[in-house]
Amino acid sequence: MIRVQVPATTANLGPGFDCIGMALELHNVVEMTPISRGMSIEVFGEGASTIPKDENNLVYQSARHVFNQAGCSIAGLKIRLFNQIPIARGLGSSTAAIVGGIIGANMLTGRKLSVRDMITLASSIEGHPDNVTPAILGGIVVSVNDSGEIRYLKIEPPSKLRGVVAIPDFNLVTKASRELIPSQIPFQDAVFNVGRVALLVAALHQGDLSMLSVAMEDRLHQTFRSPLIPGLKKVLAAAKLAGARGVTLSGSGPSVIAFADANFELIARVMGDTFRQNGVMPKVLVLKPSPIGARALEIK
Ligand code: HSE
Repeated sequence: MIRVQVPATTANLGPGFDCIGMALELHNVVEMTPISRGMSIEVFGEGASTIPKDENNLVYQSARHVFNQAGCSIAGLKIRLFNQIPIARGLGSSTAAIVGGIIGANMLTGRKLSVRDMITLASSIEGHPDNVTPAILGGIVVSVNDSGEIRYLKIEPPSKLRGVVAIPDFNLVTKASRELIPSQIPFQDAVFNVGRVALLVAALHQGDLSMLSVAMEDRLHQTFRSPLIPGLKKVLAAAKLAGARGVTLSGSGPSVIAFADANFELIARVMGDTFRQNGVMPKVLVLKPSPIGARALEIK
């Protein structure tokens, strides 16, 4: 049996749309066991009642890509999923499924794919690399798609950094959340984001959290998505007032993540209260960045 543990991820970090993400200490576990025939999928925890348990399952589909690439056919497969990452909340649940399926299947087929191959395959299934690279490598990862090849560099998260994550009680599918983003933006807004994301990378690299307030601002996606998330603007403002260094939508939302090095309880409380005042029932977690990415174990 193969057991793969994959961290949750937060993508964009504000201005780094589709190109920067960070792994978080919240995990899904994928277990894969070859069996003599057929397929069985069991899901425990998040998504237990909603995740497909047939050929439409994303872990299974991702594993199939690896079996096909490796030219292997598996007689039968048993998959068990133990999920901590809430589904479709902007915390990388689909990436965790894809990465878990790919790594598990790669272990079962003699580890023919390198880490780089797995990053390329997972990014092509997901459509962008920003959640995939930190899910596989851990830490904070900057990644871009260079004509199908993913170029990436990892940054160690500042040691005191924590993510206070307010997770609303409703799903937001990334595709729907991307549809609100216009196909063109003014040049000044592009310049705004280029400057912020450059400052963000430098600040994270140097561990200078005082820059995050400005460096996590965005004009490419967040405002356009805010109609989908009641109270978003107020939650962002409240987190900052309570002492967050920077605060942003997590991935395509609806979760909001505040970056902080102190006042975690207060920030968590005001984010939760502000969402509730706007009719959203959130769960709030204080999470450490995960310095390591997906890990696989073979259990005989
Ligand atoms: N960069 C992506 C987006 C993250 O914002 O749509 C979602 O996976």
